Amino acid sequence: MTSKRNILVTSALPYANGPIHLGHLVEYIQTDIWARFQRLRDNSCYYVCADDAHGTPIMLRARQDGITPEALIAATQKEHEADFADFLVDFDNYYSTHSEENKDFASSIYLKLREEGHIHTKTIKQAYDPEAEMFLPDRFIKGTCPKCGADDQYGDNCEVCGATYDPTELKNPVSAVSGATPVEKDSEQYFFKLSDFSEMLQQWLKEGHVQSEVANKLDEWFEEGLKDWDISRNAPYWGFEIPDAPGKYFYVWMDAPMGYMASFKNFCDKNDINFDDYWAADSKNELYHFIGKDIARFHTLFWPAVLDGAGYRKPTAVFCHGFLTVNGQKMSKSRGTFIKARTYLDNLNPEYLRYYYTAKLSSGVDDIDLNLEDFMQRVNSDLVGKVVNIASRCAGFITKKFDKQLSAELPEPELYDDIVAAGEQIAEHFENREYNKAVREIMAQADKANVYIDENKPWVLIKEEGREDEVQKICTQGLNMFRLLMTYLKPILPATAEKSEAFLNTKLKWASISQPLLSHEINKFKPLLTRIEKEQIEAMTDASTENMPTQEETLTGPLADDPIADEISFDDFARIDLRIAKIVKAEHVEGADKLLQLTLDIGGITKNVFAGIKSAYSPEDLEGKLTVMVANLAPRKMRFGLSEGMVLAAGPGGKDLFILSPDDGAAPGMKVK
Ligand code: 2FM
Ligand code: ZN
Repeated sequence: MTSKRNILVTSALPYANGPIHLGHLVEYIQTDIWARFQRLRDNSCYYVCADDAHGTPIMLRARQDGITPEALIAATQKEHEADFADFLVDFDNYYSTHSEENKDFASSIYLKLREEGHIHTKTIKQAYDPEAEMFLPDRFIKGTCPKCGADDQYGDNCEVCGATYDPTELKNPVSAVSGATPVEKDSEQYFFKLSDFSEMLQQWLKEGHVQSEVANKLDEWFEEGLKDWDISRNAPYWGFEIPDAPGKYFYVWMDAPMGYMASFKNFCDKNDINFDDYWAADSKNELYHFIGKDIARFHTLFWPAVLDGAGYRKPTAVFCHGFLTVNGQKMSKSRGTFIKARTYLDNLNPEYLRYYYTAKLSSGVDDIDLNLEDFMQRVNSDLVGKVVNIASRCAGFITKKFDKQLSAELPEPELYDDIVAAGEQIAEHFENREYNKAVREIMAQADKANVYIDENKPWVLIKEEGREDEVQKICTQGLNMFRLLMTYLKPILPATAEKSEAFLNTKLKWASISQPLLSHEINKFKPLLTRIEKEQIEAMTDASTENMPTQEETLTGPLADDPIADEISFDDFARIDLRIAKIVKAEHVEGADKLLQLTLDIGGITKNVFAGIKSAYSPEDLEGKLTVMVANLAPRKMRFGLSEGMVLAAGPGGKDLFILSPDDGAAPGMKVK
């Protein structure tokens, strides 16, 4: 047995102005399982987190709600803590970045960096709202995209065309705070010289502290050159004031990661643990940050550099995960897939989601999809149908027929040992965050256990005279295999594991798996997990559906009856290949009232399309004309034949449906821009 490891893990700190949703939970569940796994393997593993309580959005949100920022962050923290606890996320400490400890870390780290020459000041121009009398972060400036002309875009990137730009490039900019036109104003800011750490970081990254995908991305950033980082913001700002700089505050991203240290310091002080053992430059203990891929740059460049510059240790590793999609798409309020933690909990058992995420998570940065149909099937078939089923098929016989006593020996010790042996591989998968592989392996073992019970049929044997002993042994074998499976699943399903411990009348410990439970008294079996019913999922998505009331209430005209469809991303749109097509032939379709059959030429390729434009055109009017077609639409079999695309015509319908005229210079096959 290797000696006990001392580990500290963190998850990213959620902002204190919004609810926890299922997207956030990927990370908290991932981290919690890893921490629980380490403890189950008898390592010491502390897991700390905190609310990220500073910054302009929190200041403005509090103002909008007519409360103090302190009141807002306190109320949010309470909700966050309740959500996490109910999802069985077991923090050793949950704190806030708005704390005395964090203020001390922010100042002392800053002062150390300044002393070492890593801070300098520079006067820069920034957008200023003359009405609200404040400098504006990029996301509080809105205007027209300089690239595509879309209105109402944020100051740094366009959600329509994906362009990124400087807020000063926005056309017709307005402040989202007051509606005033921002002006440019000079102010002195404090910068952290990230480039001082270039060599150190390159070396550190070579040592395998980040995943390869992230390392590759970092190479690109190194090529662009490391830029100095503005760590200050002007008053009014909600945060900590910078020492010796009245009216200047630490940018929220400066003190946020220090919240990891502050939360841990708070924990250490309450529990008599030595903080320096974990954070001193020469610490041998392990430190891991679990984060989402959107904040990788921050955690793998700025944060290690700040730590290094201030004389602390750097993380042992930064573990990055992907985003969550629901039913294959970005979470959406109109589809009911923007699901808050609390809405989920009102309808479903948290362990279902813990299990499903585990079954999907790997050590990579790929996004994971919560497919609600698959979620239901997977949980029902794996957890209820395979694992719990083993216990429920064996427990009754032991309690009713054998006075709750397990037999003195296993009928098939090799099978038991086999499942014990699989534990090493399973542990390795957990350790490497290859959770999907761990789950696959555990379920393969559950399959073996079920085959054993199916083949030995205790429910048949019990009816045969003189075979009681065998039944007791078979069920003892079954329950011992169940015990192994539940031990492996314990980090994922802590509540079910606890109920199983009560039922098996023993603690589930990884270190005890090689010893089966024999001649041992168990307790009465109570149902451990029930099936997910479709209605529960529907109730959850219904409760999450927000029908954009402002649109529906205020719209008149066609949009009122036929609202704009669900949003698609620019990538979705870009996949549609629109081409100019020449209508070389147009014919009536026998038996169709609305359709014409069109033969289209898109520059050498001919496509057959059935188009519903008969009300506006007779075939002879169309031949020789141009139209726009969706050229890459999957062919669709219709009653009249195969339709290989779709033509676009605009208008109210009936006689007024317009296609392109042939004299505007377009050529067949040309891409429509
Ligand atoms: O992206 C976010 O939600 C940030 N609140 C994460 C901060 S993590 C750490 F740096 F504190
Ligand atoms: Zn744009």
